[in-house]
Amino acid sequence: MAIEQTFSILKPDATRRNLTGKINAKFEEAGLRIVAQKRIWMSRQHAKTFYAVHAARPFYNDLVDFMVSGPVVVQVLEGENAIALNREIMGATNPANAAPGTIRKEFAESIEANSVHGSDSAENAAVEIAYFFAGLDIVG
Ligand code: CMP
Repeated sequence: MAIEQTFSILKPDATRRNLTGKINAKFEEAGLRIVAQKRIWMSRQHAKTFYAVHAARPFYNDLVDFMVSGPVVVQVLEGENAIALNREIMGATNPANAAPGTIRKEFAESIEANSVHGSDSAENAAVEIAYFFAGLDIVG
């Protein structure tokens, strides 16, 4: 297995409930390293472009409204098999279907306010990381 980097967002429902540390502990306990991290408040345009792949979905406008409703923490996570590992740690998109011990099972409020985003492929991880971080911001 290769060392990979994946992109992660702690969403507004997580920052509102002061869960940054508890969620980061889940990543670190599973062996992922947080090699870049910053707290930002996304603009509407930034959120719309980030989620453009979902533009035709019925939940798109609500998703964008939610993502700009408060600050988020954007991160680069690094480790063995980081993309798939992070998806395992997060759990299913809908917390009702998430496995015990996952972030979404423990913390998510709903399918929309589901506490975290993580890249779903190596291609998307590279695009998403570059959308928020410059190379010099990432310290392995
Ligand atoms: P995320 O991994 O950030 O990618 C797209 C987001 O859309 C997803 O997590 C959910 O928070 C949100 N979303 C809201 N409604 C739905 C839905 N019905 N199906 C999938 N994703 C949804």
